[in-house]
Amino acid sequence: QTPRSVVVAIDGPSGSGKSSVSRAVARRLGLAYLDTGAMYRALTWWCLEQGIDLDDEPAVTAAASDFPLVMGTDPTDPHVRVGDADVTAEIRTTRISSAVSAVARHLPTRAILIALQRDWVDRCSVQGIVAEGRDITSVVAPDADVRLLLTASEQARLARRARELHGDSGESALAATRDEVLRRDRDDSAVTSFLEPTDGVRLLDTSDLDFDSTVDAVVRAVEAARAER
Ligand code: DC
Repeated sequence: QTPRSVVVAIDGPSGSGKSSVSRAVARRLGLAYLDTGAMYRALTWWCLEQGIDLDDEPAVTAAASDFPLVMGTDPTDPHVRVGDADVTAEIRTTRISSAVSAVARHLPTRAILIALQRDWVDRCSVQGIVAEGRDITSVVAPDADVRLLLTASEQARLARRARELHGDSGESALAATRDEVLRRDRDDSAVTSFLEPTDGVRLLDTSDLDFDSTVDAVVRAVEAARAER
């Protein structure tokens, strides 16, 4: 039997730092990296590109089943392509961020992406993988060796997103960010409950941790799980 390396599942809301932390952990430990949010974002881009009404569940699901997604699992080169189009930067724009919840809400669409994500985790399980999103600890990889929910206070999350999107966290940047972040949390949590950990999932509150300390804490959790095996 092929030896299986560690599978790390990380969930959390927008602004919890999960994407940058997950990528840094994967890089530090030589693991593959899967950003499942990028899949929902790329599918949203693909539907908009084809003029599909995002509320049309059968049409969005049909697009998902015929989705020419190419995504790297190298944490140092997280490119996303749909067919020939490189959408790595485009899927981070406000146009996509404000539309993606409409796509992520359709359960038959999710079933297709979840199946792809499970395949991805299986294929990378020899190298080991860090997979992050909203339902990784509960649905995509509930058997992962390490299952973490990254949280942060609303204030800390807004400040991080404002810095990410506007380069600072002054009042006007915070105001511009607040609506998007809070609305998306509300819409997303209608589908997956990612604000509370499910059984056996460890909660890591990053409100008062800087980036490096958060990465260190996750790396320690992975090393502890490896030592136990
Ligand atoms: O993590 P993110 O902001 O890139 O995620 C984009 C959207 O995709 C987010 O609004 C919720 C959705 N999503 C999801 O429903 N399930 C996942 N596993 C990952 C993301």
